[in-house]
Amino acid sequence: MVKLRIPASSANLGPGFDSFGIALTLYNDHTFELSDHLEIIGCPPEYSDERNLSIIAFKATLKVMGKPYTGVKMTVDAHIPFCSGLGSSAATIVAGAKGANALYGDPLSNDELLQICNAIEGHPDNVAPAIYGGMTVSVVQNGVAYCVQYPVHPDLKFVVMTPDFELATKESRRVLPQMVNRQDAIYNLSHAGLLPKALELGDERLIRLAVQDRLHEPYRRPLITDLTLVEKAVNDLGAIAFCISGAGPTCLAITKDPDFAEKLKKELHTPHSKWNIQELDIAK
Ligand code: HSE
Repeated sequence: MVKLRIPASSANLGPGFDSFGIALTLYNDHTFELSDHLEIIGCPPEYSDERNLSIIAFKATLKVMGKPYTGVKMTVDAHIPFCSGLGSSAATIVAGAKGANALYGDPLSNDELLQICNAIEGHPDNVAPAIYGGMTVSVVQNGVAYCVQYPVHPDLKFVVMTPDFELATKESRRVLPQMVNRQDAIYNLSHAGLLPKALELGDERLIRLAVQDRLHEPYRRPLITDLTLVEKAVNDLGAIAFCISGAGPTCLAITKDPDFAEKLKKELHTPHSKWNIQELDIAK
């Protein structure tokens, strides 16, 4: 039997649409045991069959390793909220891939696991940090995913604000335009180029500048009820930066203030939704 902890992740970080992500210290815990049938404990019934993303990834990984699939017993203790912009589906996929790999002594590298997980998820920005940890920047070329990790300044804290409603990634991608204009492309390229260095240095002025986006956030903001109120509260408390986490609806604040989350809990009153606020660190 193998035990695994897979971290949540926050993708995009503003301008790094579908390529940037950070692993965060909020985890799903899994165990895997080889079996002659499928047994899933800890998932709602509608996710407890062969269509479960962990099982799809588990089987795909066995196939790459040339091992037969007869069944598996998987337990799940999930803490990453579903459909919330914190990489729950990526964590589920990565769990299955890492579980299969671990049961056979970890023959596959993280780079090989990334290919399997990216093929299932469709974009690498959440699966990469869930596999490697830290901050990752990923590229897909000719179907092959590449990933590099960047250091993040240890003083930075990542406060996630998750509302009491879900937003399906499919819905949040549907509102995005098919084409972008050159000015917006340049805007995002230049801001994305700054962001890893800004986070490494912990440079507040640069982070605030670099986290700005024109490719997805302007289109998604109307989908997130009370976003402007949350953003105002975050800014009034002096956060370094604010962005949508992944496809939303969770929002992310970057701060160095150790009391920021507590202050925000006291300040944040929204008329239409309730927000769960958690201070997280980068998961290594
Ligand atoms: N990069 C993705 C998006 C993350 O923003 O749609 C969610 O899967």
